[in-house]
Amino acid sequence: MSTPTRRDFLHATALASTALAMPSLYAQGASNRIRLGIIGPGGMGTNHLKNLVRNPEVEITWVCDVDAKRLEAATKLAQGDAAKPPRTTADMRKVLEDASVDAVLIATPDHWHAPATILALNAGKHVYVEKPCSHNLREGRLMIEAAQKAKKVVQVGTQSRSTEHVQQAMAKLHGGAIGEVLSAKVWNSQFRRNIGHVKPSEPPAELDFDTWIGPAPKVPYQSNMLPGAWRWFHAFGEGDIGNDGVHDLDLGRWGLGMDTHPTRIAALGGKYFHDDDQQWPDTQSVLFEYDLGGGKKRLLSFEQRLWSDYHQEGFENGDAFYGTNGYMILGKNGGWKIYDKKDKLREEAKGSPDLLAHHRNFIECIRSGAVPAADIQEGHLSASLCHLANIATRTGKMIEFDPKAERITNDAEANKMLAREYRNHWGTPVG
Ligand SMILES: NC(=O)c1ccc[n+]([C@@H]2O[C@H](COP(=O)([O-])OP(=O)(O)OC[C@H]3O[C@@H](n4cnc5c(N)ncnc54)[C@H](O)[C@@H]3O)[C@@H](O)[C@H]2O)c1
Repeated sequence: MSTPTRRDFLHATALASTALAMPSLYAQGASNRIRLGIIGPGGMGTNHLKNLVRNPEVEITWVCDVDAKRLEAATKLAQGDAAKPPRTTADMRKVLEDASVDAVLIATPDHWHAPATILALNAGKHVYVEKPCSHNLREGRLMIEAAQKAKKVVQVGTQSRSTEHVQQAMAKLHGGAIGEVLSAKVWNSQFRRNIGHVKPSEPPAELDFDTWIGPAPKVPYQSNMLPGAWRWFHAFGEGDIGNDGVHDLDLGRWGLGMDTHPTRIAALGGKYFHDDDQQWPDTQSVLFEYDLGGGKKRLLSFEQRLWSDYHQEGFENGDAFYGTNGYMILGKNGGWKIYDKKDKLREEAKGSPDLLAHHRNFIECIRSGAVPAADIQEGHLSASLCHLANIATRTGKMIEFDPKAERITNDAEANKMLAREYRNHWGTPVG
C-alpha cells in the first residue's frame, strides 16, 4: 500500500471540514433530484446535456445561451421526455437568481469560466465548470476563495480524473510500480485546421455578442472566431495547451504527485505552420521544474505540434512517466502500459474517458459534501501550468515562480500577465 501523500491528507482534511460545514442533502432527508441550470450549451455543453437528460438524479430546470439558435436546440434536447420544458434565458443572472437551482454546469468559452463560477458560488450554487477552469492564473485563485467562502462543490471538467483506467494508472505510479517517478512528458500532437484571415463584421442576428464577450475587453466580431475557434485567440482562450493540453498536463502533474506549482518554467514556440488569424502557438515545447525542497526536484515537459496527423506512442495526446525502475505510457483515450528497465512490457490496461462517471462524482459530492475528483484546487494547479507556459512562451523568458505567493519573481512584465484587464461589466470578478 502506498503512503498517503500531502494531497491525500489535504483532501481528507478538506473533506472532513467541508462535510461538517455543509449540511448534505442526504442529511436533510431530501431524495430530490439535483436541479441544474446549464450555461453555454454549445459543442461540449450539448454533449453534457445528452447525458444529463437521461440521468435520473438530475432535473434540468434552466438552459442559458447567448446564441438564440443554440438556446432553442438545447432547450428541446433538455426537455427530453419531461412534460415541463426548462426555463430559458440569455442572461445567466436569471438562473443564478432562482433559489430552486442547486447547481450549474458552465460550458461557455474559457474567458467566462471564472466570472460565471464566482457569480454562481456567490449565489449559493454548486458548480461544474469546464476545463481549463480559468483564463488566467489570478482567476483560479479567486475561484478557490469563492468556493471556500460558499462551501460549495466545484468540479472541473477534466473527466479523466473520474475515469477508472486513469485512476488505476495513478495508483500504480503512486504505489511505486516504476520506482521513483522523477520526470514526465506530456504531448499534444494532432492536426488543427487553418481558420484563415477575415475582417471584422457584424455578428449574426441570433448572437448577443456583447454578453458573449462579457467582462473581457471588447473586440470586434470575426466570423472565424465562432463556433469554437475562439480558443485560438488571446482574449478568450489559451491555445491548445489550455484546450486539449490541460487534460494531459493534469495527468502528468497527478502522476508525478505534484500538489504545488512549479518554480521554474522555460518555453519556446510560436506559429511555425499556420498562416491565419490564430494567435496562440501551433508549435510549443515547455519545461516545468518543481522544487520540493531539500534538493528534491521533478521535471514535467510538454510538447505540442498542431500540424501532425501522426501520433506519438500510439496516442494523439498522452503522458509518459519515467521512474527509476521503468516507465509508463498513458493515453486517456486508450489505456496504459508499464515497461520495466529492459523495455519489457509488464502490465497494461485499456480504457477511455468516462464523462458519466465525472457527472456521477459531481452529484455524489453535492449530496455528501465530499471533495470532487477534479476539485477546483486541482483544476487551478493544472490550468496554471498552461498559463505559466504561455507567459514563458510569449515573453521568451525563463520564468521563476513563487508557488506560495503565486508571483513571478524575476520579471515584472511577465508577472502582470498572471492577471488580465477587464472592462466595466457585471461579470467582472472582484477580489
Ligand atoms: N471536457 C472536455 O473534454 C471538453 C471538450 C470540449 C470542450 N470543452 C470545454 O467546453 C467549453 C466550451 O467549448 P465548446 O467547444 O463547446 O465551445 P462553443 O463555442 O461551441 O460553446 C460555448 C457556448 O457558450 C455560449 N456562451 C458564450 N457566452 C455565454 C454566456 N455569457 N452565457 C451563456 N452562454 C454563453 C455560446 O453561445 C456557445 O453556445 C470550453 O471551455 C472547452 O474547453 C471540454
